[in-house]
Amino acid sequence: MHQDVERILFTQEELSCRVQELGEKITADYAGKEVAVASVLRGSYIFMADLTRAIRLPITVDFMAVSSYGSGTVSSGQVEIKKDLSDSIEGKDLIIVEDILDSGNTLYYLMDVLRARKPASIRICTLLDKPERRAKPIAADYVGFQIPDAFVVGYGLDYDEKYRNLPYIGILKPSVYGGWQGEF
Ligand code: PRP
Repeated sequence: MHQDVERILFTQEELSCRVQELGEKITADYAGKEVAVASVLRGSYIFMADLTRAIRLPITVDFMAVSSYGSGTVSSGQVEIKKDLSDSIEGKDLIIVEDILDSGNTLYYLMDVLRARKPASIRICTLLDKPERRAKPIAADYVGFQIPDAFVVGYGLDYDEKYRNLPYIGILKPSVYGGWQGEF
């Protein structure tokens, strides 16, 4: 285990198993259809790669990148599209893939933008969901795991752009991000 990780929340095996289940559920729900799968960079890149390989349907993949401005670890309602989708989504069955749904500010904004482009349908698939942190009325259609309000890293999720390549999801030691650790 990485020295900055307090404890592992989901092992590589648990993640793989749950992602497989999500892929099977999506495959069943969209049987007979082609699905446009789009992920929000960068945190979702590993989940996206594994999830799409677990979907047994014809799919297209696309990516967008956004910046949300906020203080510390909390995003604000202000979101800027840094990289837009490459393809049109008009008339498509779209699944937005996220690594984590936290305050909901990012997806709440994005859903408005994407709905205006008239896809046939939009659903959200998030690996992690922190419902107790929600500031906007938004829920995911597919959720890998509901988690408590802890600072998690790995499997694509970062702190200060680090730890994305950890193969598991772990809780970061508070001392790493300046949280109180019980000593000074
Ligand atoms: C994370 C995550 C979501 C967003 C969720 O991205 O990937 O896009 O925060 O938070 P919210 O529900 O409070 O809006 P982040 O800004 O950390 O960028 P990253 O994906 O590049 O790590």
